[in-house]
Amino acid sequence: MRVRALWWDDGRLALLDQRLLPGREVVRRLRSVGEVAKAIRTMQVRGAPAIGVAAAFGMALAAADGRSRPETAAKQLRATRPTAYDLFVGVETVRAAWVGGDDTLGAATAYKDRIVEECRQIGLAGADLFRTRTNVLTHCNAGALATVEWGTALAPLRVAMERGAKLFVYVDETRPLLQGSRLTAWELGRERIPYAVIADNAAGHFLQSGNVDAVIVGADRIARNGDFANKIGTYEKAVVAKENGVPFYVAAPWSTFDGSKVSGRAIPVEERSADEVLEVAGHRTAPARANARNPAFDVTPARFVTAFVTPDGLIPPGKLAARLSRTRRPE
Ligand code: MRU
Repeated sequence: MRVRALWWDDGRLALLDQRLLPGREVVRRLRSVGEVAKAIRTMQVRGAPAIGVAAAFGMALAAADGRSRPETAAKQLRATRPTAYDLFVGVETVRAAWVGGDDTLGAATAYKDRIVEECRQIGLAGADLFRTRTNVLTHCNAGALATVEWGTALAPLRVAMERGAKLFVYVDETRPLLQGSRLTAWELGRERIPYAVIADNAAGHFLQSGNVDAVIVGADRIARNGDFANKIGTYEKAVVAKENGVPFYVAAPWSTFDGSKVSGRAIPVEERSADEVLEVAGHRTAPARANARNPAFDVTPARFVTAFVTPDGLIPPGKLAARLSRTRRPE
């Protein structure tokens, strides 16, 4: 059954509250840019492409209310989550329409449609990778919930399944917020794609023991040289994949590629509340006065990437810079 993370509903941005999945399917209907900013910050909506689309509709809501100004609304949204480049692209796309006197809801809708179509193309471009590589590992949630529809990492798996491939997906649970065990498992279950959730620290074991034929993940921001930021824990999966000769793919729409960043060192990494680490699903597991660090993302160097799965096909990291100089940026 097809999953949709968000949609426009009679003057409001409707979204599935991802904090409550898989236990409860609650739809929030947001009326203002402030509500959208809060939904992004608190991860009611999450995943780089979906954040970008939500922010685009947030800008449209701001434009419609007659009191907001383009720069103020853009600043409020940009301050929510620093790593996902899509956020900045989504905001800028609608800010430009607003400043230019164009239809902002039309611009947000067109942006959403473009992201959905690019994810569909990622699925078509990557499906052949999984014709023979049947056991796949993924990290975090890079499915429809993270992108509006289709997904990035999960899109090629969906298409490969439709074409008759026999897949099995190892799903990293993805501490601290469990996007793998809560969200990816929920999506795969709805689509009847066989999977097993594994503890984050089990991935090395499965890669080493020959159980995994390929790894595919999404990204929050990809620098010009192919270094990329994704959910914390991605880096170590990439290193262990290379150590064991397992190909490692990164799937993303063009809105995730930040050609202005020369390397991953320039990508800002969001640090979130210590409570997310000290608690599991809202229950305190650490001692009362324990300290914690909680970087939400890490940066994987390009040398660990076999290829980027883009809407225009597979691109090896070494060819990315040349390709990005030909990409028309929406800003
Ligand atoms: O903190 P999150 O849940 O927003 O992080 C999401 C990820 O890291 C995803 O892997 C990434 O955004 C790619 S989504 C297609």
